[in-house]
Amino acid sequence: MTQDINILNSNKNDITDEESLKQLSFIEKAKEHVDSLSRELGRNLTACVVTFGCQMNARDSEKLLAILKLAGYEESESENADFVIYNTCTVRDNADQRVLGRLGQCSNYKKKNPHMKIAICGCMMQEQSAVEKIQKSYRFVDLIFGTHNIYKFAELLYTTLLSDRMIIDIWKETDKIVEDLPVLRKYPFKSGVNIMFGCNNFCTYCIVPYVRGRERSRSPKDIIRECEKLSADGVKEVMLLGQNVNSYGNDFKDGDPNKISFPQLIEEVCKIEGLERVRFMTPHPKDFSDELLETIKRNPKIARHIHLPLQSGNTEILRRMNRKYTKEQYLELVYKIREMLPDVAITTDIIVGFPGETASDVDDTIDVVNKAQFDNAFTFIYSKRTGTPAAGFPDQVPESEVKENFDRLLKVVQETARKQSEKLTGRTEEVLVEGINEHDNSLLTGRLSNNTLVHFKGDEKLIGSIVRVSLDECHGFYFMGQMV
Ligand code: 5AD
Ligand code: SF4
Repeated sequence: MTQDINILNSNKNDITDEESLKQLSFIEKAKEHVDSLSRELGRNLTACVVTFGCQMNARDSEKLLAILKLAGYEESESENADFVIYNTCTVRDNADQRVLGRLGQCSNYKKKNPHMKIAICGCMMQEQSAVEKIQKSYRFVDLIFGTHNIYKFAELLYTTLLSDRMIIDIWKETDKIVEDLPVLRKYPFKSGVNIMFGCNNFCTYCIVPYVRGRERSRSPKDIIRECEKLSADGVKEVMLLGQNVNSYGNDFKDGDPNKISFPQLIEEVCKIEGLERVRFMTPHPKDFSDELLETIKRNPKIARHIHLPLQSGNTEILRRMNRKYTKEQYLELVYKIREMLPDVAITTDIIVGFPGETASDVDDTIDVVNKAQFDNAFTFIYSKRTGTPAAGFPDQVPESEVKENFDRLLKVVQETARKQSEKLTGRTEEVLVEGINEHDNSLLTGRLSNNTLVHFKGDEKLIGSIVRVSLDECHGFYFMGQMV
């Protein structure tokens, strides 16, 4: 067996502003290699980026794809490509299992294509046990790296192209943010913008603080500059991304001119000409301020959608989840939002089956759903993540026992979402046209400011613009409408 190359000497303190220049030179070197291989084979080389998980990962994948394209690869939707990279998620176990299944399938392509390189990166790779598993049972993988050194992808790509060995480069942590790396947007008219990385909340079920590290905010200047560039490039909608956007800037020292609050930041972003919609994801209910509500109210550009993860409606479960709010405090916030911003859609995340949760605890969650009247909710079965405090809690609930509670909750969630959606019937709203309908290409698909989907007849030239559409028929979570 060939020996793996474990890059242990990477010094996180080496990262400077020149880093992006260094990475650009690696892209050029990789391109020379790719071009020469392409001449040899008499065909273009292809690359496929497979993304699991959240909006943060989707944004990271846009950076990976940009580097691969600049290095001379053609984008491929199929994993039967010359370079395949899996950007993984590890929030729940089923995401881990899915990626391992896909990886297994991918090895069959590699058997037929000796030039193929397979890489795996992202949150799952920040867990030692996952890396060990790949090293042991997935020997055909060429490159493994984590979340903290993704900015080094060009360099790692180049090293991988020259090597026959498995390259592994995982950092435990970082306190730096590298700006100005290339990025290729999936949609020309909308884009995510990272405002901060990491999380300090340590909800007891959650692996994110361990794999994404502590909170690090980007400077407001860099964020505004990125948004201005996006707007100049035709982007109409930005989504400001962070695990807990309400704590944006808390890591700046007092007196630092960079220290502004999240509401101040979003207000600045709204001033950028050409941007029509500003979204954000995700706020934590425990520090959702009145200042933020007032900012949303004042700024029609801020999307009428707040995603407000509930997780549980039972105060004792919330305490054990370390969420730092009670059932009543959460509901109070929802009532305040509904009163101040009656047009705002509120969506949520809920976990069922947390250790020790009983049917009566789930009744509390259902009670909150009924009272909050969520416009949509993502419901998850609790997944035990090794290394988190909750993994060691007694009374882990077997999945077979969770199912009934999960189904009860889902029924109420769906009924509530439908009722909320139906309220919009007959209204005429602004819609950002996102693309051609997947099932019927005579239709366009777009989104309301409150995130509701609507399908309607129209010309594909309208993609990326905002049009007015009457919401004629409600079909649960989407509408059929007509342009007016
Ligand atoms: N099990 C199930 N769901 C989880 N989430 C986070 N960690 C877990 C876990 N261990 C859910 C939360 C979070 C969403 C992104 O994923 O609801 O808000
Ligand atoms: Fe995980 Fe809680 Fe941080 Fe969200 S706020 S990423 S659920 S620890």
